[in-house]
Amino acid sequence: MKFFVDTADVAAIKELNDLGMVDGVTTNPSLILKAGRDIIEVTKEICDMVSGPVSAEVVATEAKAMIAEGMKLAKIAPNIAIKVPLTWDGLTACKAFASEGHMVNVTLCFSPAQAILAAKAGASFISPFIGRLDDIHLEGVNLIEDIRIIYDNYDFKTQILAASIRSVNHIVDCAKIGADVITAPPAVIKAMAQHVLTDKGLEIFLKDWAKTGQKIL
Ligand code: E4P
Repeated sequence: MKFFVDTADVAAIKELNDLGMVDGVTTNPSLILKAGRDIIEVTKEICDMVSGPVSAEVVATEAKAMIAEGMKLAKIAPNIAIKVPLTWDGLTACKAFASEGHMVNVTLCFSPAQAILAAKAGASFISPFIGRLDDIHLEGVNLIEDIRIIYDNYDFKTQILAASIRSVNHIVDCAKIGADVITAPPAVIKAMAQHVLTDKGLEIFLKDWAKTGQKIL
């Protein structure tokens, strides 16, 4: 399973990247706003640091304008994955980008039917949003499972990039289902290391060690 980091915070990406935890990065207009940086500048900085795919999202809603924006974003670096929304225009732009050999991440996917269309349009990645489905009381991980079954049935090459990840359980569920990639905020990836019994066990070991009166160094 590949780990993408869902942020435009360069320092947070660097911390995880230095540990070898980063296979790619996803950004979106909200994350660019949060970072408070110029999209071209910050995306270039991320692409220079991370060798895997870095998703940069178009904001136009009409195919022709999306294609123009995507072509500009693609010029930032060879590892750019152009991110387009799962609309008919987005699919049209996806097909155009894929035909030119660009990686495309089709985002805002909320149904298996949408995922089929993205695969047919040549998407490199489909981004089903788990958390936002949970928000409306639907079981987000079920969508990942449905898409996995469908893509395997037809050997679609589009990678399932589970997005809108809000918890460690989301990541574990996606791993069990066989999502190709997860993209999660840095804090959720770091939370994977936490376990109450690890903390408790370490506390006991350190107390006992202190009683030995020994030192390793
Ligand atoms: C995916 O590429 C999106 O950037 C992201 O996962 C959205 O997550 P959110 O629903 O927590 O905003």
